[in-house]
Amino acid sequence: MMTGKVIVLGVTGGIAAYKAAELVRLFVKGGAEVHVLMTASARQFVTPLTFQTLSRNPVHTDLFNCIEEQEIGHISLADRADLVVIAPATANTIGKIACGIADDLLTTTVMATKAPVLIAPAMNANMYMNPLYRSNEERLRNHGYLFVAPVKGMLACGWEGEGKLQDPAIIYQEALSALTGKDLYGEKLLVTAGPTREELDPVRYLSNHSSGKMGYAIARAARRRGAEVVLVSGPVCLEPPYGVKTIKVVSAAEMTEVALREFAAATMVVKAAAVADYRPEIRAEAKMKKKGASLTLALTQNPDILAEMGKIKEERILVGFAAETAALVQNALKKLREKNLDLLVANDVTQEGAGFSVDTNIVKILCRDGSIEDCPLMDKELLADIILDRILAVRDQKRGRESE
Ligand code: PMT
Repeated sequence: MMTGKVIVLGVTGGIAAYKAAELVRLFVKGGAEVHVLMTASARQFVTPLTFQTLSRNPVHTDLFNCIEEQEIGHISLADRADLVVIAPATANTIGKIACGIADDLLTTTVMATKAPVLIAPAMNANMYMNPLYRSNEERLRNHGYLFVAPVKGMLACGWEGEGKLQDPAIIYQEALSALTGKDLYGEKLLVTAGPTREELDPVRYLSNHSSGKMGYAIARAARRRGAEVVLVSGPVCLEPPYGVKTIKVVSAAEMTEVALREFAAATMVVKAAAVADYRPEIRAEAKMKKKGASLTLALTQNPDILAEMGKIKEERILVGFAAETAALVQNALKKLREKNLDLLVANDVTQEGAGFSVDTNIVKILCRDGSIEDCPLMDKELLADIILDRILAVRDQKRGRESE
């Protein structure tokens, strides 16, 4: 998703400067061309050689030594950048940019660029709360500069509070977001993900192999594209996506309650969760004892959340998934019609690289008009964007019909 993008990464002088090395690694892995600019203070913490080795490009440090190949260094970098990222950004550098000061290579490049600028502050907690810092950040935000807020924690200066550089993986996600068009701006997307757990007793439950990867990828992609996203997630090991309201649930009953509540404000819904169709009729208060050679469990049906939504969807766009092990298209078409869906994403979970737990999927996207799109083996991150593209096409078609 970063392929071919030119990222100019400014590193300023803070103890978190070493974390910028991980950020360079992520950008390079994502396919970006990375050019690192270091302030004089940054060089007190990390050597340029680290960034040169990781970025495979010379590191720029000096405003006046940077005239190469007839180009003025800071102007050339400012023009070539698709995105300028400053991580870590000190209060000093942020203050200078907010006041229009351009007295070193980094601030001059920021002043000269037309590319978006993403700032990841890192500083002492009291500095971060200082009204002068706050008004500088506010001023820059008002001018369209993007920020990825620091996190709370034990700071190198000994204070505990907000000021720790955000996780490089999240800065990377925010950089991706800064490079992405906001075609879902104004939409409120509800996504469900992961499995549900139906408890038999305090130590056992019925569940399935869903890891949440598919639904989380959709939530992340939609957020990148400007949607306001609510993610209702069953128990999974994934980090809640940054900037997404994530509500954790355990059972199908809880998922039903939360999803139907959040449905009211949604304009679009994608139900990637693998909801248990049945739960034990009785949940034992104490651990069930071994009784004999066999045990029969009585199960009772859970509500079908998607079918309920289908009955009350009005103008919302409703997208379901179908996890099948046989007769993929036939079963999926049945679900599309019976649950009153706009789209259905069908995966044959017996195929290698498809369905539960893996990073990839192989799906067919079924539309109401009977068309079926084959999506071959691909990363769930990529598939998430394709699904969102199809949802936008449905939205535009509906809007077109309304305006006729
Ligand atoms: O989480 P991963 O490891 O990344 O795996 C992804 C996935 C395989 C879970 C995903 O791609 C997928 O197929 N999700 C739907 C799984 C499923 O429960 O399919 P289903 O055919 O049983 O249900 C059809 C649809 O009805 C689904 O959208 C489901 O969310 C919904 N449903 C089902 C039962 C129920 N009681 N309520 C529901 O809303």
